[in-house]
Amino acid sequence: MKKNVTKAVFPVAGLGTRFLPATKSVPKEIMTLVDRPLIQYAIDEAREAGIEEFIFVTSRGKGALEDYFDISPQLEHFLRKKGKHDLLEILESTNMESGKVAYIRQNMPLGLGHAVWCARHLIRDEAFAVILTDDVITAEKPCLLQMIEAFQEVGGNIVAAMEVADEEVSSYGVLDIKDDIGKMVSIGGMVEKPMPNQAPSNLAVIGRYILTPSVLDRLESLAPGASSEIQLTDAISDACKSGEKVFGLRFQGRRYDCGSKQGYLRATLSIALSRAELRDDLEDFIMNSLKKPGRSEGG
Ligand code: UTP
Repeated sequence: MKKNVTKAVFPVAGLGTRFLPATKSVPKEIMTLVDRPLIQYAIDEAREAGIEEFIFVTSRGKGALEDYFDISPQLEHFLRKKGKHDLLEILESTNMESGKVAYIRQNMPLGLGHAVWCARHLIRDEAFAVILTDDVITAEKPCLLQMIEAFQEVGGNIVAAMEVADEEVSSYGVLDIKDDIGKMVSIGGMVEKPMPNQAPSNLAVIGRYILTPSVLDRLESLAPGASSEIQLTDAISDACKSGEKVFGLRFQGRRYDCGSKQGYLRATLSIALSRAELRDDLEDFIMNSLKKPGRSEGG
């Protein structure tokens, strides 16, 4: 029988300091790519991969996230009365079924590993997914679905992996590769944010994981690591070292780091250009702006 992964943890308790002042009052996850908040891209990917239970690890000031997933009776009534059925449909697609969403508080931003650990009582003894909403991935087959299919073949823990340039390794968790079998690599360890000359490879982890509950036990006893935070990377690396199976999947797709301004702008452009109703106008605007730098644009 195929092993299913039906629970996903979304750690959204970070402070989002790279987007200050915007994130002073708006959670980063509510910032939009064109017209949908970052969190919606993550939810859609999870749903397409068969996730049924959505666990958000939140913090103070993230109330807008809970409201976003709630039904909005007044707005729905208004749109129905005005006959705006297309907008109503869009709105309804953002509602989450009662009992399928849980919110857990991380009281202090002690790191990604700590945030995942906060969800331990809702995970119990099943393999589960972790999705970082900062990483938006455009792909023919959703990245998480690719990972769940790989998990059904090989089991163990799986991290999404991507080749990065030498000068970029120090921004990522980097894989120590034991065995390279093409699409997948088996991992002997992971190093968080290594110096380029100390990186075990150029294969970096990005924000999608399938983890076994043993990683939660490891997080329990972990001391703070890089940046004085409890690192998820360290718990996964421990699992490798104790002989647990851990794989990196070279996923198919394009990943945008929407936790950084550059990545966020790239994702905005890419998604806008993929929308038929926006493409021509945006292309013209970009071409004109590049031809005549400094020209001011109305409208
Ligand atoms: P980041 O490292 O991007 O931190 O976290 P951040 O606070 O979101 O943003 P910056 O760096 O200050 O701009 C990666 C992911 O881990 C979550 C974040 O919400 C984000 O999804 N996270 C991080 C937590 O949930 N709790 C933490 O203690 C740290």
